[in-house]
Amino acid sequence: MEMQRMRSVCLPVLAACICLAAGAAPPDDSTLYARLGGEPTVSKVITRTIERAAHDPRTQRSFDGVKLATVEASIVQQICSISGGGCKYEGETMARAHQSLNIRASEFDALVDMLREEFDAAGVSAGAKNELLKQLAPMKRDIVPAG
Ligand code: HEM
Repeated sequence: MEMQRMRSVCLPVLAACICLAAGAAPPDDSTLYARLGGEPTVSKVITRTIERAAHDPRTQRSFDGVKLATVEASIVQQICSISGGGCKYEGETMARAHQSLNIRASEFDALVDMLREEFDAAGVSAGAKNELLKQLAPMKRDIVPAG
């Protein structure tokens, strides 16, 4: 009996010590970032979305001459940051990044549709996808000059 109690107390403490010693926080599956599939899925979804947006006639004009890989990496970092993935977003504000592009509401909506489709194609749950989209929606007022 006493042995069992020792085990139930010591094992979790030991596990925490090993994690701390390894310098790694235990993975937190409760974050939105984790529910989105973490780095592999977010990276894949953003790469596919931006590649599509750069070729889709509804959105392509803004991406002329833009280094797609750089934009993709920056958006992945931003999503990681706002969804609890522990990254620090180091890019421009949304207003500054898009100000010279004069993006229309129809272009914004088309890109969000592509993003939604790519999250679906990657098998991300509707709950996680919608939670992220809800966080991105208010950015529209900074990205689309006329609102
Ligand atoms: C919620 C929607 C959007 C988000 C979260 C978003 C996010 C971002 C981020 C994080 C960057 C990089 C900023 C930096 O590294 O300093 C960026 C750049 C860019 N975005 Fe967006 N964006 C969105 C909508 C759009 C739309 C609708 C378009 C065009 C149809 C667009 C076109 C671009 C382009 C062309 C760049 C590169 C600008 C440059 O390098 O000068 N974005 N965006």
